[in-house]
Amino acid sequence: MVGAMKELGAELRRGESLAKLTSLGIGGTTDLLLAHEHRHLPQLIRLLKSEGIAYRFLGGGSNLLVDDGELPWVMLQLAAPKDEVRLEGNFAYVDAAADLGRTVTFCAKNNLGGMEGLVGVPGTVGGALRMNAGAYGTQIGSHVRQVSLYRAAQGEVVTLRGEEICFDYRHTSFAPDDIMLAVKLELPSKLYAEILQGIRICNEKRRASQPLGQKSAGCIFKNPPGASAGRMIDELGLKGFHVGDAYVSERHANFFINRGRASCADMLALIERVRERVRAAQGVELEEEVVVWRR
Ligand code: EPU
Repeated sequence: MVGAMKELGAELRRGESLAKLTSLGIGGTTDLLLAHEHRHLPQLIRLLKSEGIAYRFLGGGSNLLVDDGELPWVMLQLAAPKDEVRLEGNFAYVDAAADLGRTVTFCAKNNLGGMEGLVGVPGTVGGALRMNAGAYGTQIGSHVRQVSLYRAAQGEVVTLRGEEICFDYRHTSFAPDDIMLAVKLELPSKLYAEILQGIRICNEKRRASQPLGQKSAGCIFKNPPGASAGRMIDELGLKGFHVGDAYVSERHANFFINRGRASCADMLALIERVRERVRAAQGVELEEEVVVWRR
C-alpha cells in the first residue's frame, strides 16, 4: 500500500497533529497523505477506497475546527508545485494548493489586480474557491473563469466554466466532496503601485479590527443578511467570554481564539453559547462559517 502510494508520487506522514495543521491550533492526530502529483489524485483516492480507508481533504486548515483524539480519517492534502501560478495576458492559471496571499502578491507584481482585499485571508486558493472567500469588497468567485476539480461522485476530473458555478456570499455550488485542483482567474490590469496601495489600505483596516497573529479560524459565523455577526455578539457584551481556553476575541467578537489548550469541545460549547445568547436577545440564528469535522 505505502509502496503503491509512493509510485503515485504521494508521501505518507504518520501521526500528524491537526492542531499543528490548522490555524485554530485544535485537532487530534492521524496520518497525512501528501499528494505531490495532482494527476495521480484519482488513482490515490481509488487506492484509499479499495483499502476501505476513509479520507478527508485538507486545504490550508484556516477555516476548520477538527475534533480531538485519534481521528478516523486519513488527511489528504495537495502539495503546491513550484510553478503554482502561470500568467497569460489577463489570465492567471493557479494551482489550488497555492497560498492565496502569495498568489495575490505574485499577480500584483505582474500588474494584475482586483484581489487586493484577499491578501490577508489565510489559506489556499482551493480553500478560498470552495467557500468563495471574500474581504473588503473582493470575492474570489467574481474572477473565476474555469475550475478543474476532482469530482468524487463520478471518480473523475471535471472542468467547469465560471458560468456553471454559483458563487454566493461564503457559499458555492461545488459538491461537498469535490476537490479543487486548479483555477483560471481573469484579473484587471493595474499598476503595481496602485495595487500595493489597495493592499496596504486593506491590511491597515484588518490590523485595526481583527486579532491577527492569534489562533483563530477567521470569522466563526456568517453575517446574517444586512447585519454583522461581530457587532451583534459585541453588543451583548460577549467579548472576552470563554469556555476553557476558547475565547471570544476582545478585538473582533466574531473571531473566536484558542488562547492555549482549547479543545474542540470547548470551542463548540463557546459557539453554542454565543449562538443561544444571540438567538435569545435578537431572535437571529447565526450560521457557522467555520467548517466543523466531528468524529
Ligand atoms: N463590529 C463591532 N464589534 C465587533 C466587530 C465588528 O461593533 O466586535 C462592527 C464594526 O465596527 C463595523 C461592523 O461591525 O461597523 C462590521 O465589522 P467589520 O468591518 O469587521 O466586518 P465584518 O462584517 O465583521 C466581514 C467578513 C470578514 C472580512 C471583513 C472585511 C464575514 C463573516 N466577515 O467582517 O471576513 O474580513 O468583513 O471585509 O463575512 C471571514 O470571513 O473569516 C472574515 C474575517
